[in-house]
Amino acid sequence: KGVITIDPGYKNTGSCESGVTFLDGEQGILRYRGYSIEELAEKADFLEVAYLLIFGELPTKAQNEKFHEDIKAEAVVDEDVKKIVETFPRSAHPMGVIASLTSALTAFNPSSVNVDSEEDMYRAIVKILGKFPVLVAWTLRRKQGLPLNYGSDEIGYVENILKMMFEKPNHPYEQNKVLINALDKLLILHADHEQNCSTSTVRIVGSSHAGLFASLSAGISALWGPLHGGANQAVLEMLEGIKADGGDTKKYMAKAKDKNDPFRLMGFGHRVYKNFDPRARIIKKAADEVLGDLGVQDPILDVAKGLEKEALEDSYFVDRKLYPNVDFYSGIIYRAMGIPTDMFTVMFALGRLPGWIAQWREMRLRKEPIGRPRQVYIGATERKFVPIEER
Ligand code: CMC
Repeated sequence: KGVITIDPGYKNTGSCESGVTFLDGEQGILRYRGYSIEELAEKADFLEVAYLLIFGELPTKAQNEKFHEDIKAEAVVDEDVKKIVETFPRSAHPMGVIASLTSALTAFNPSSVNVDSEEDMYRAIVKILGKFPVLVAWTLRRKQGLPLNYGSDEIGYVENILKMMFEKPNHPYEQNKVLINALDKLLILHADHEQNCSTSTVRIVGSSHAGLFASLSAGISALWGPLHGGANQAVLEMLEGIKADGGDTKKYMAKAKDKNDPFRLMGFGHRVYKNFDPRARIIKKAADEVLGDLGVQDPILDVAKGLEKEALEDSYFVDRKLYPNVDFYSGIIYRAMGIPTDMFTVMFALGRLPGWIAQWREMRLRKEPIGRPRQVYIGATERKFVPIEER
């Protein structure tokens, strides 16, 4: 009591007890509720994983169907939200738009703000899982000047996201199993990652009993930064830049190592993983498969592989245990799917949604106290006020 230790960036501070996600950064292990990420990415679909994260167990068939039905019933957004979407400049960054729209949902769904019972929580959860993909699709469609549409309640959750995003007037949506599987996998791999920056934000905002949607909107804003979820956009822009500059990966490796140069190798390094990020391993393989299946040849993939190879052999990166992270290869898949670069972090948010929800629900059910860190004061000692004329 009375002694405050500071831990900048909370590198060694546990903020909570949690039963959602297990992460061993030294060994490169990631498990959701005890199930390995490798197995889930291979065998489960995103909605099952969402249920697992939020409620703690894999759903039975009946539970899964009921969950999906409840979500589908909420996959509608007040018509007035369209007016908000339409007032954003087309050039607006999609992360700013989606954070604002998520926040706006609180105004259109006031019953979701004060959620004290588990039943209230469930209603708020299926609401956001229903409405968020609609908002994601509208964010993209607004940019592209396409009508703000709805999907179908006869297809799977992930397939419906693709339909809402890509359907064009007079061009009916055509099912593409490669794209559905790729998106399913990417969303699963992004679904939770214990107490990262955005999740901690969701928990701390929610700890004041702000509603779920407001907490999520704050999480989305935290995710936006290039040191966190925004890295996926930054990686692709970096790879394009290297390619445009003649593909000289060595030059960029030198820049990344130069302490006087602010350039960092985006998509490399992680606060917790001091070994290969297991998600990156799966995504790298998926990138090869998806590009192969779609018949896409992307020279950016070669730049990425070249950079990775050099980094893994370079003592600067080896000594600091800097490995490719989840964002290094994900953008290459999103790009092959036809998703614009500035939407990549929105796709990350779509995947992280169940994790944020699970962590928020856990925090509320455990009745955690309001988050309120202390500080070590380093400012002026007591001073006498000087009237403005005398300063
Ligand atoms: N390129 C070059 N040097 C790096 C990089 C990099 N990408 N990442 C870390 N370093 C160096 C850093 O300069 C420092 O060197 P030194 O010890 O000589 O001062 C050392 O490695 C430790 O780095 P740090 O910044 O103290 O580590 P951190 O835990 O505070 O930061 C990080 C972790 C992810 C923010 C950082 O590695 C980084 O900026 N990476 C690039 C951005 C990125 O890819 N972010 C996505 C993270 S994964 C997605 C998610 O958020 O879940």
